[in-house]
Amino acid sequence: MRQSSATGPWDGIRSPETSETPIDVADVILGQCLMRFSILILGICLSFFARISNTEGPSTRQTAKHANEHIMSEKLIPSNPADVMVMRHVTPNVVTFSVPFSRFGTMKIGGRGTLVKMTSGDLAVFSPVALTEEAKAKVSELGGNLAYIVALDFEHHIFLSEWLKAYPTAKLVGPEGLPEKRAKQNDPKIGSEPFATVFTKDKKSTTRIGDDFDRDFDYEYVDGHANKEIVVNFRPDRTLIEADLFFNLPATEQYSRVPEKQKQAGGFLARHFEGLQDPQGGSNKWMKRFNWFVLAKDRASFNESIRAIAKWDFVNLIPCHGDVLEGNAKEVFQKTFEWHI
Ligand SMILES: [Fe+2]
Repeated sequence: MRQSSATGPWDGIRSPETSETPIDVADVILGQCLMRFSILILGICLSFFARISNTEGPSTRQTAKHANEHIMSEKLIPSNPADVMVMRHVTPNVVTFSVPFSRFGTMKIGGRGTLVKMTSGDLAVFSPVALTEEAKAKVSELGGNLAYIVALDFEHHIFLSEWLKAYPTAKLVGPEGLPEKRAKQNDPKIGSEPFATVFTKDKKSTTRIGDDFDRDFDYEYVDGHANKEIVVNFRPDRTLIEADLFFNLPATEQYSRVPEKQKQAGGFLARHFEGLQDPQGGSNKWMKRFNWFVLAKDRASFNESIRAIAKWDFVNLIPCHGDVLEGNAKEVFQKTFEWHI
């Protein structure tokens, strides 16, 4: 249940559960404006999300427009991922594959896949990006047996087939609705391979992935989030991995190998979006409002999930969008989601 303290989104606003706090009209107006603006932006984002991303799949409207969309995506994503990918160990067992990715060709939010070597010796990859020769070599270096390919949400799935083709014994994991969504695609990159584990709202508390995976990971299906997030924590290295639950912009690392000119934010909207998704900037109230009003579609369930995640022991946080948090991740997470905890 939402808290009605002065730290919540109703800070200064009369809470529906308490009439003790005076209404701050400006805050109400700002909140409403943000909510409506954000819903508009989110709708546009979701519509174009998969079509233009190198990490996220196309929408179900694959029609004659596909050719043009393909051309558009070529302008937006790198055609040479190996040349711009940053591959590095966050810990000895956790490797990130960071690539540039710009929403609308202007919001530089970056993309990232993460490879983990479990204590069993087998590997798991989360929200995979392009499988470059360097990425393949890293898989081999870490033992070579990829056991799990996890789509961390409803959107980050386009490279599942590419990885599964290279590692056909791996098991696919994802959120409800994703297998059906993929089956409807008319895209050569997206197959309709069966999923070994699909998280659903009703069965999420009893859904298990595998003995080896379960030994190493905490995981929570945030069904209340607009994009159906699966959040995991690799306990041995105290590293949380997620997709769209939490952005940490600007995406410095993901743009570190592109020409300087391309690193600059596109325009007014892009700069302000980046500002809104900087959890370490100021009180990050706008980011909190975005989470509260826009992304938490089922707020009660969302809050329950956030409280579960907040109990995990982690110090690093690897987002798909923006820079990796190392050492202080738990504090930043709690600050960002304090209204939900
Ligand atoms: Fe995303």
